[in-house]
Amino acid sequence: MPDLPSRNATTLDSATARFKDKFRRSGELCAEGSRFVPGGYSRHSLTFGPHAIFVDHGQGARLYTVEGHELLDFHNNFSCSVLGHNHPRIRDALLEYVPKGFSFGNPMPHEHRLAQILCERVEACERVIFSCSASESCLSAVRIARANTGKNRIAKFEGGYHGLGDEFMLSLHPFTALFPGPAHRPVPVPNTAGIPSHVRDSVVILPQNDLESCARILHDHAADTACLIMELMTSAGGAIVLDREFVRGIRELTRKLGIVMIIDETVTLRSHYHGLQGEYGVVPDLVVMGKTIGGGLPIGAVGGRAQYFEMGETGQVYHSGTHHGHPLATIAGAACMEVLDEATCARMNRQGDRIRKELSEWAAARNYPFHCYGIGSHLGYEFTDRPGRVYRSCRDMLAYSDEEHMQTFAFEMANRGIFPMYRGLVALSEPMTDADIDTFISTARDIVEEILA
Ligand SMILES: Cc1ncc(COP(=O)(O)O)c(C=O)c1O
Repeated sequence: MPDLPSRNATTLDSATARFKDKFRRSGELCAEGSRFVPGGYSRHSLTFGPHAIFVDHGQGARLYTVEGHELLDFHNNFSCSVLGHNHPRIRDALLEYVPKGFSFGNPMPHEHRLAQILCERVEACERVIFSCSASESCLSAVRIARANTGKNRIAKFEGGYHGLGDEFMLSLHPFTALFPGPAHRPVPVPNTAGIPSHVRDSVVILPQNDLESCARILHDHAADTACLIMELMTSAGGAIVLDREFVRGIRELTRKLGIVMIIDETVTLRSHYHGLQGEYGVVPDLVVMGKTIGGGLPIGAVGGRAQYFEMGETGQVYHSGTHHGHPLATIAGAACMEVLDEATCARMNRQGDRIRKELSEWAAARNYPFHCYGIGSHLGYEFTDRPGRVYRSCRDMLAYSDEEHMQTFAFEMANRGIFPMYRGLVALSEPMTDADIDTFISTARDIVEEILA
C-alpha cells in the first residue's frame, strides 16, 4: 500500500517530498543525463515539477516507470497517444513493415492511405501534405497562406500554441509582468529568449472570445495579414474553449477580409470523428493536424482545398524534409485512425463528459474553487480564486488560477498512481475502462479535499 497522507496533510511541500522520494531514480537520471543533454531531456515540456518521470515502457492505459511504478496514464504524451500504449493494431502494422527497411529517397504509397483517411474525415481537406511535426506543418500552412495572398503578417490568439516557430512563440502565455497591453488589444510578447525583435512586427495578437475586438484589430491589419491561425480549444494555453458564435464570426470576418483561416487541430482532431471543426460546423481554408494522426510516431500534416497546393500568387510553395511522409509514421497513423472510428470517439468523449460533470458538480455542491472544463476526451482542471469562476480566455486562467494548488494536485496524483499533464490538462485513451475513470474521479476528489481542507 502506498504511504497515503492523512486528511489535511496535502501541501505543496509534502506532495513534492513524496514525489521526489517515489520517483528518486528519475531524479538521478535527470542529473546524470544533464552531463550530455541540458536538463536531462530534449523537451522542456516534459518537466513535471522537480523533474520529469522517466518511463521504462507502456502498455494499454498504463505506464511503467524506471522505478517500477505503474501509473494510469492520463497524460498520453500531451494527448498524442489516443490509443494508449503499444496498441496491437499499430504494433502489428509496424512489425509487418519493418523488414522492408526504414526510409528511402523514394516515395512509398503508405502516405496516400493516411491522406485519404484525413480527406474523407475532415471536410476542409481535399489534399494533405505531411511533415515530421505539427510545428513544421504550422510553418508550412503559414507559408502557403502567404503565397496564396501575397500578404505577410499572421494573426494568432493570445494563449494559442502552434509549435516552435518564432512567430508562434509570441503571446502563448501573456505574463502580466511583460505588459501585454489591454485585454481587448493585446501586444505581442515573446515566450522564449532568442526571438528576433522584428518578428513582433509580423504578428497580430487577438483576444479569445471577444469578436468585437477581433473585428477591430483584423480590419486595421487586413491589408497585410495573410492568415489567422487558431485552435478551437487551446491545449498548451489551458483548455480554453472558443464559443460557437465567436468562431462563426471569425470565419465570416476572415472570408470578408481575404485572410486565410487556419484551424490547428493538432490536439483537437481526437475530439470528434470529423475533427472539432466538424462539431463546430465550421470549414476553415487550411487545417493543421499532428499527434494522433501518427499513432505515436512523429508526424504533422497540412490539409486544405486543392487550390492551396497549386501555384500561389508568388510561385510554388516549397515543401520538403528528409523524413516527410515517413512510412513508419504514416503506417502507424493510418492504423490509429482506423481504430479511432466514430463509436470510439463518442465513447471516449462520454468518459470525458463524465469526469467534467462529476468533478465540477461535486465541487460546486461543496462550494470548492475547483472546476473541470474542455471538450471531448481532452479536458482541463483548475483551482480558481473563487467557486463558480469560468474561464473565457487564457488571460483569465493566468489571472485566477491558484498555481500552488495546481502543482500540489499534479504531484499528488502522480504519487497515487495517476499521471496527468503538469499544467492542468488530462487526455484519455481508448483502452481506458469506466473503472479507470472512476479511479481518476475518486482520487481527484480525495486530493482536492485534502488541499482545500
Ligand atoms: C495546437 C498545437 N499545435 C502545434 C503543436 C506542435 O506540435 P509538435 O510538437 O508536433 O511540433 C502542438 C504541440 O503540442 C499543439 O498543441
